Amino acid sequence: MPTDGKESSYEVVFGDVLETLPNYPEKFNLIIADPPFGLEFDKGSHEYGADDYILYDDKFSGDEYEEFSFKWISACHGALAKSGAMYVISGWTRVGEILNAVKRTRFHLINHIIWHFGWGVFARKRYVTSHYHVLFLAKDKNDYCFVPQFSNPNTKRKGEKYEEDVWYWPQYNRGNDPDRAPNHPCQISLAVLEKIVLISSKPGDWIGDVFSGSGGTILACRRLGRNVIGFEKKKEYESTIRQKAKFGEKIIPRAEKLVKKVDLTTFLGENDKDR
Ligand SMILES: C[S@@+](CC[C@H](N)C(=O)[O-])C[C@H]1O[C@@H](n2cnc3c(N)ncnc32)[C@H](O)[C@@H]1O
Repeated sequence: MPTDGKESSYEVVFGDVLETLPNYPEKFNLIIADPPFGLEFDKGSHEYGADDYILYDDKFSGDEYEEFSFKWISACHGALAKSGAMYVISGWTRVGEILNAVKRTRFHLINHIIWHFGWGVFARKRYVTSHYHVLFLAKDKNDYCFVPQFSNPNTKRKGEKYEEDVWYWPQYNRGNDPDRAPNHPCQISLAVLEKIVLISSKPGDWIGDVFSGSGGTILACRRLGRNVIGFEKKKEYESTIRQKAKFGEKIIPRAEKLVKKVDLTTFLGENDKDR
């Protein structure tokens, strides 16, 4: 447990990840990837309630998106250590192309997780999108880190821990993380990132976030005593990343357990509008 006061190493590398990641062959024990959605966000982007978003360039045609996915997933394969694993987060609209791309690589698909989140929005003529797909991939299907965190008090197997492939967190979405920093539109909650880090890495490991965005993974890793490199194309997000991941501030890694869940009522109403 990293409670000896030793801080982890952290940095962000700006540029196209297809160009920067090959500089780190077999470096990482774990990679987290939350790629561009491949949606043209505008007022009509009803799937993600994105009317107010000012987004990075996110336009891809169907074929382009699969090819882009194949390229960065292959680059991640090269940047992972032999026993490394990767999590890929995707909305439902583009998960088909990502799965096709994964099949063309040497990754093994270990789990296909559904992460249920709550938007706090209403839809009258369609189902409200309230889940992400999270693909858990390993380089070697017999050798990867997996440290279950969940202990179910209702089973006979008291004290034994396991993990389910549905993550039910109605209190978390991309807009309500207590650690959210300004000027990045689609931030993943620290609770989700910390779950991934705790289950699939050990203190002192190297973790890469290949679409770093606001820098949440850097903060999660610093809090949990993992070394981390974030990769981000847009230099415009530098101040957001520095603020969210507390660059220059001392962070003493804490014990290996999940953050406390926030109450559902703390966010309902925030995005509570018809669409
Ligand atoms: C869905 S967002 C990631 C959000 C992030 N998980 C967070 O919690 O803030 C995707 C990010 O990937 C970045 N990006 C897009 N194409 C990239 C590329 N080729 N190389 C590196 N970063 C890229 C975008 O600028 C954007 O910040």
